[in-house]
Amino acid sequence: MNALAARRRHPAAIAVLLMLGLFLTGAVYAAVAPEPADATTQALPAQSVEEGKSLFRANCATCHGVNAEGRQTGNGNQIAGPPLAGVGAAAVDFQVGTGRMPMTQPGTQAARSKTVKFSQEQIDALAAYVASLAPGPSVPSEEAVDPTKGDPAMGGELFRVNCAMCHNFAGSGGALTRGKYAPSLKDVSGKHIYEAMATGPQSMPVFNDANMSPENKRNIIAFLDTINKQENPGGLTLGSLGPVTEGMFAWVFGLGILVGCAVWLGSKAA
Ligand code: HEC
Ligand code: HEC
Repeated sequence: MNALAARRRHPAAIAVLLMLGLFLTGAVYAAVAPEPADATTQALPAQSVEEGKSLFRANCATCHGVNAEGRQTGNGNQIAGPPLAGVGAAAVDFQVGTGRMPMTQPGTQAARSKTVKFSQEQIDALAAYVASLAPGPSVPSEEAVDPTKGDPAMGGELFRVNCAMCHNFAGSGGALTRGKYAPSLKDVSGKHIYEAMATGPQSMPVFNDANMSPENKRNIIAFLDTINKQENPGGLTLGSLGPVTEGMFAWVFGLGILVGCAVWLGSKAA
């Protein structure tokens, strides 16, 4: 009998084996696990960080604090603006690029606005400044958001599972609790769709690279691009809001016609 077989039934054998198993699992996981977050600290040009800092002090500091540390309102328990260290360049590019920031009036939700107050160059500088505070998700490359490189069918499946409960199956938006809403996704640029997923504005969850790979983000962008371009062969879309509006339509017009018939028949009989 060799030495190993002799010790097989030793009471410590189980424990040793278990430790060995755990150690191996840990080692293999460490070797193949994906990078924890999509946090990248790009080399930032110092000049644009400086420019971003002064833009920030002039336009954002009243709510977010002089060093983006966040601020409370006068009455103490409400925040004027959350701290921004770690939200990343993507959050700034999204919030300022969609006209949500600088927020003009307090409300339950900073709404998208057509008037974007800064040039893309200034937004880049603001983003560089915020990204210099702490690493966070970066602005995606053009290739990462190119709808022609994605698979819309796959994206549609992912959209129905992950996004449709808030944004509606056709991306036309919907109401949430406490006066909040998930906005329509019509005509939102691929870059902003990607950034919304990477940063999770307000009550939207964050879809980081571990939950939703960059390829799948691009597939969703391709899907939204496809439905934006779609013609509606059946005529009016009724806002693509689903059974409620369609039902309303049937009630108002269908019932209206029936009532009209009844009135007409009644007046004939009289
Ligand atoms: C009037 C106050 C106000 C001003 C001015 C303002 N913000 Fe905000 N900001 C808020 C509030 C409140 C929120 C949180 C609510 C929300 O996200 O809609 C927020 C959220 C953000 C977020 C999202 C943070 C996250 O967790 O993802 C970013 C990024 C941001 N602001 C950047 C800016 C920048 C850059 C400016 C200046 C150009 C600016 N804000 C100006 C009030 C303000
Ligand atoms: C729990 C509900 C919820 C889910 C799930 C959700 N979102 Fe959102 N989404 C929101 C809310 C709320 C906002 C608005 C945030 C704001 O205005 O600050 C939003 C905003 C957006 C925007 C910005 C639109 C604009 O007007 O600029 C995009 C793009 C977006 N979501 C895409 C997605 C995608 C893609 C998914 C699925 C991968 C998804 N969302 C899942 C709630 C949700």
